[in-house]
Amino acid sequence: MLRLVSRKLSRRVAVAGTKESSWRKLVKFSSARQSGRLEGKVALITGGAGGLGKAAAREFIEEGATVVLADVDALLGEQAAQQLGPHAQFVECDVTVEQQVAEAVDFAVARHGRLHIMHNSAGIAGPPMAPDVARLDLADFDHVMGVNVRGTLAGIKHAARVMAPTGSGSIICISSVSGLMGGLGTHPYTISKFAVTGIVKSVAGELCRRGVRVNCISPFVIPTRLVVDQLAQIYGDVGRQKIMDIVDGLSELNGAKCEEIDVAKAAVYLASDDSKYITGHNLVLDGGFTSYKQLNLPMPDRLEL
Ligand SMILES: NC(=O)c1ccc[n+]([C@@H]2O[C@H](COP(=O)([O-])OP(=O)(O)OC[C@H]3O[C@@H](n4cnc5c(N)ncnc54)[C@H](O)[C@@H]3O)[C@@H](O)[C@H]2O)c1
Repeated sequence: MLRLVSRKLSRRVAVAGTKESSWRKLVKFSSARQSGRLEGKVALITGGAGGLGKAAAREFIEEGATVVLADVDALLGEQAAQQLGPHAQFVECDVTVEQQVAEAVDFAVARHGRLHIMHNSAGIAGPPMAPDVARLDLADFDHVMGVNVRGTLAGIKHAARVMAPTGSGSIICISSVSGLMGGLGTHPYTISKFAVTGIVKSVAGELCRRGVRVNCISPFVIPTRLVVDQLAQIYGDVGRQKIMDIVDGLSELNGAKCEEIDVAKAAVYLASDDSKYITGHNLVLDGGFTSYKQLNLPMPDRLEL
C-alpha cells in the first residue's frame, strides 16, 4: 500500500492519522502521480510568477520536476515560489534584458546541475485598444515585440547554449490563437504571436540536430491577469468576475472552456519524453475555434433576384 505513495507525494503529504475517506483520495492521488513524467528534470519558466507560467510550474512539480520561476514581478514571483513549495525557486528576470535571461539560465544550472526544460511563458498584451495600422504607435509595437518576441528568443538562445552540449532538452514557447488569425488581438500582439511560431520553426530546424526540441502552444483566451486587466480597460468597472464569465463564455467547444490547467498539461506533454519525437510543432489548444469559418451565404428564401 505504502509503495503507492510516490516520493513526490511523501514530500508534501503527512499521512499520520488519515481517515479512511482521505486514504481513498490519497491512494487515487498517489496512483495518478506514479508516472512522474518529469521526474528529476529541471525547468526554467519565464513568466512563472502568475497565469499560465505558474500553472505550468505547479503541474511540472506534480510530475516530479524542480522549477525555477523567472519573472519581472518580484513580489508575485516570491509569493508563487512560496506557494509552490520547496521544489520551486524564484529569480527576478526581465526577459527584455538578455543578461538577466542568461543569468536565470545559469542560476538553474548552477543550482541544479542541468536544465532540461525551458518554458517561455512571459508575455504582455500591450495597449487594449491599439488604433488602426495607419496610426499605430511604433513605440507600443516595440514594447510588445521586446517582451513577446525578443524575450522568447533570448530564452531559446540561452537554453540552447546549455542544452545543446548535453544533446537533449525541451524548449516550449507560448503563441496564441492570435498567432494563427488576424483580427483577434491588436496589431502588436497579433504580429508578436505570429513571430513566436516563426521562431519555433526556424530554431527547431537547427536544434533538432543537437537533440533539443522546440515547440509552441497556441491557446485560446483564458481569463488570466493579462486578459482580465486588458478587458477591464475596455469594460470599465463591471468587475473582474463578470469579465472572467464573459471570457469563459467565448468557448466554441460545447461543454468546455479553456483553462490554465489545459495549457499546463500540454506543456507537461511537450516537456516530457511522451513527445520525444515532436519538434517544430505548434500545439493549437483552442477547442476548435480556428478550425472553421463559415461562408456568409444568403438563405435561399432571402435571395434578391
Ligand atoms: N491568457 C490568455 O488568454 C492567453 C492566450 C494565449 C496566449 N497567452 C500567452 O501566454 C503567456 C502567459 O500569459 P498569461 O495569460 O499567463 O498572463 P499573465 O499576465 O498572467 O502572466 C504573464 C507573466 O509574465 C510576466 N512578465 C511580463 N513581462 C515580463 C518581462 N519583461 N520579463 C519577465 N516576465 C514578464 C508577468 O509578470 C506575469 O507573471 C503570454 O505569452 C501570453 O501572450 C495567453
